[in-house]
Amino acid sequence: MILDVPELSLVALVGISGSGKSTFAARHWAPTQVLSSDFFRGLVADDENDQSASSDAFDVLHYVAGKRLAAGRLTVVDATNLQSHARAGLVKVAREHDVLPTAIVLDVPESLAWERTQARTDRTFGRQVITRMHRDLRRSLGQLAKEGFRKIHVLRGVDEIAAAEIRYEKLF
Ligand code: CTP
Ligand code: MG
Repeated sequence: MILDVPELSLVALVGISGSGKSTFAARHWAPTQVLSSDFFRGLVADDENDQSASSDAFDVLHYVAGKRLAAGRLTVVDATNLQSHARAGLVKVAREHDVLPTAIVLDVPESLAWERTQARTDRTFGRQVITRMHRDLRRSLGQLAKEGFRKIHVLRGVDEIAAAEIRYEKLF
């Protein structure tokens, strides 16, 4: 499956915890192109899992994203991006820099994400968190277009995610 992405774009990965966003990002982009919420929580709070640091973390993430976009650099945001208000912050940064916001949704079964989460030492939340995220994801699918995402790619299941290739569209 070929995913067309404008060569200068703000790419929002969208998916529940355990859907494979960070794995996908590492496969398709250089580490410096990927801004992860975990990294920025660590930066501002010394703890990648400190949810109380999320607001500050996203402030800094948006700031860095803006600097990158101003310099014409494709930027990928590795966060769950399951809430409309979280995505609105990204659309805003993209618009401020006349850049197209793109969403790539990783839609995996809740059971698989939970299986993976249990095997991780860096995630300690319970199943009900994954269930809530999964509900948020279902709702998100119908909202992305009206929120301003100009390209929306939905990868359903592990096979589509594994087979995905990015193709960059020239803007001019
Ligand atoms: N994983 C896997 N096979 C894949 C993708 C991911 O086994 N095709 C594993 C990873 O090795 C990791 C776990 O599943 O242990 C979660 O993947 P990750 O990419 O970290 O998921 P994220 O969506 O980034 O999760 P989070 O939102 O919690 O950061
Ligand atoms: Mg991750």
